[in-house]
Amino acid sequence: MTSAPPPAPRRRSGATARIVLGVAGGIAAYKACEVLRRLTEAGHSVRVIPTESALNFVGAATFEALSSQPVRTGVFEDIPEVAHVRLGQQAELVVVAPATADLLSRAARGRADDLLTATLLTARCPVLFVPAMHTEMWLHPATQDNVALLRSRGLTVMEPASGRLTGVDSGPGRLPEPAEIAELARLLLERPDALPHDLSGRRIVVSAGGTREPLDPVRFLGNRSSGLQGFALARVAAQRGAEVTLVAAHTAELAAPAGVRMVHASTAASLREAMLAEAAEAEVVVMAAAVADFRPAQQADHKIKKTAAGPPTITLETNPDILVELVGKRRDGQLIVGFAAETGDETGDVLHHGRAKLARKGCDLLVVNAVGEGRTFEQPDNAGWLLSADGTEVELPSGSKALLASRVWDAVARRSPV
Ligand code: CTP
Repeated sequence: MTSAPPPAPRRRSGATARIVLGVAGGIAAYKACEVLRRLTEAGHSVRVIPTESALNFVGAATFEALSSQPVRTGVFEDIPEVAHVRLGQQAELVVVAPATADLLSRAARGRADDLLTATLLTARCPVLFVPAMHTEMWLHPATQDNVALLRSRGLTVMEPASGRLTGVDSGPGRLPEPAEIAELARLLLERPDALPHDLSGRRIVVSAGGTREPLDPVRFLGNRSSGLQGFALARVAAQRGAEVTLVAAHTAELAAPAGVRMVHASTAASLREAMLAEAAEAEVVVMAAAVADFRPAQQADHKIKKTAAGPPTITLETNPDILVELVGKRRDGQLIVGFAAETGDETGDVLHHGRAKLARKGCDLLVVNAVGEGRTFEQPDNAGWLLSADGTEVELPSGSKALLASRVWDAVARRSPV
């Protein structure tokens, strides 16, 4: 007779969680220290479980000091506590960073030959594998089969970043940035099913950040957009399997999300050009960028100086509405998503203005955010509504920008590909 597996541990209320951080034996193990730091600084209780080979790269003392918890690698330690079962049972999230080709293989086969793999077998919480290895190893069919198998079981295997590897090599297989790993860890704690691999093969273009309209060689008209929401949209889409291009205007110095192709733009005109070119091939287009509505009619080729005549008068002209233009040039079946940052005023509340904007812009979906002091701009969290041209309105509860992104992608994934 078979009995049902024990239920997953219930998430305790509050922001803190019991996390297991597995560390496999690759050079990227040194970056696990930064991941650990970010998780503990967010208030989580983190138990580090390295493999024996990981300790060739980072000593147990470092992990013990940073986590304030004991570090073990084998199943024959702490026998009375049955650590190889309890740690997995009690975990609310397991992150394995770096996950080497060997670790992914052992996890996929269900091996339990050390404390980390035994823990993976007893865990019933979300698991986030963060691969790091040489490109050849990552692309090898054996590794890709293991990744597909783990994903088919509902576990999350991140797309690695592309870039400098050990030695002179460069390509896909680099560990994503610790900040990015911490962001996805938070997302899985907020919503365990936020990262299904359901956008596989979908071509998506996202714009992000704020445009700058130059006045002279040193000054510009800009806005407060940090790019965080657009980057979160691109990151979550790529981790759900999409082929993502991110057209990034000015941001708070954000690194390219793992697995995302990034194109840079500065002014509304250059963003328009990049979006029209990228949208020609895309199935889904998201305009999350804060585009300047106006630009100085003239751009001085020298720094504008103070004079006795007083301040200069700056004449503005209107920039094209890129979203409206994208809607006008929409390919058959293409889905277009806009954003609306609203404050509400005497003529109506945020939602009222959002509905009017959806009708005016003609896009399929519109994410409406309430903005103002301490809300949305430059903040890690967001909330709002997702309005659809068919009249559906869904509230997007407060949470990380990655959480809001995951809700937007749910709505996109529900619509069948072109
Ligand atoms: N947008 C655009 N081109 C512009 C201005 C805005 O593509 N020149 C896009 C934004 O990327 C966003 C949507 O239009 O997806 C709404 O932007 P928002 O600034 O909220 O609206 P505006 O059109 O500027 O309207 P208003 O300032 O009157 O609220």
